[in-house]
Amino acid sequence: MATPADEGQLINMLIKLINAKNTMEIGVYTGYSLLSTALALPHDGKILAMDVNRQYYEIGLPIIEKAGVAHKIDFREGPALPLLDELIKDESYKGAFDFIFIDADKDNYLNYHKRVIELVKVGGLIGYDNTLWFGSVAYSEDTPMLDFVKYFRTHVLEINKYLANDPRVEICQLPVGDGITLCRRIN
Ligand SMILES: C[S@@+](CC[C@H](N)C(=O)[O-])C[C@H]1O[C@@H](n2cnc3c(N)ncnc32)[C@H](O)[C@@H]1O
Repeated sequence: MATPADEGQLINMLIKLINAKNTMEIGVYTGYSLLSTALALPHDGKILAMDVNRQYYEIGLPIIEKAGVAHKIDFREGPALPLLDELIKDESYKGAFDFIFIDADKDNYLNYHKRVIELVKVGGLIGYDNTLWFGSVAYSEDTPMLDFVKYFRTHVLEINKYLANDPRVEICQLPVGDGITLCRRIN
């Protein structure tokens, strides 16, 4: 489930290019993209990291500690949607994030977008992972697909169409890893 190395490098470079300091990640798993982010941030940079499973995070944590970047991470265990709803209630979080990476339950991407768009700053970036979904977004409806590919494909198509038409962002979809869509908030 880990983010591939090319995507980790891309995230790392993007964070440096936009001088991100305050970031968020939804879907940590064992922490590869988290480490890529943490290494790119300045010493006082922050990552609010969410995952339903702390045990996955703890597998990778010794490596993050060895890299000397664990102090940048505020890990929250639990489903991300209620955590985001709590953040949105607090005015100080609105427009507070420079970069947000979303790599968790694909059937909630649209729900995540409706919330994180308020939390990322104007000019900041949101990255949605797996937006090519094994290439299945280009298949015709009658192409044979594994059940899980078919189920999540519907949701990935939904978010892709939504992002392409959302006037609050400009997007760039890259065939890196399983596809990443970068959204720059413009208003
Ligand atoms: C594809 S993995 C993330 C990979 C990670 N970005 C990396 O680089 O290794 C997806 C993660 O999302 C988490 N997840 C699934 N549903 C979630 C939810 N509703 N809220 C938060 N995390 C969730 C899973 O526990 C899993 O660790």
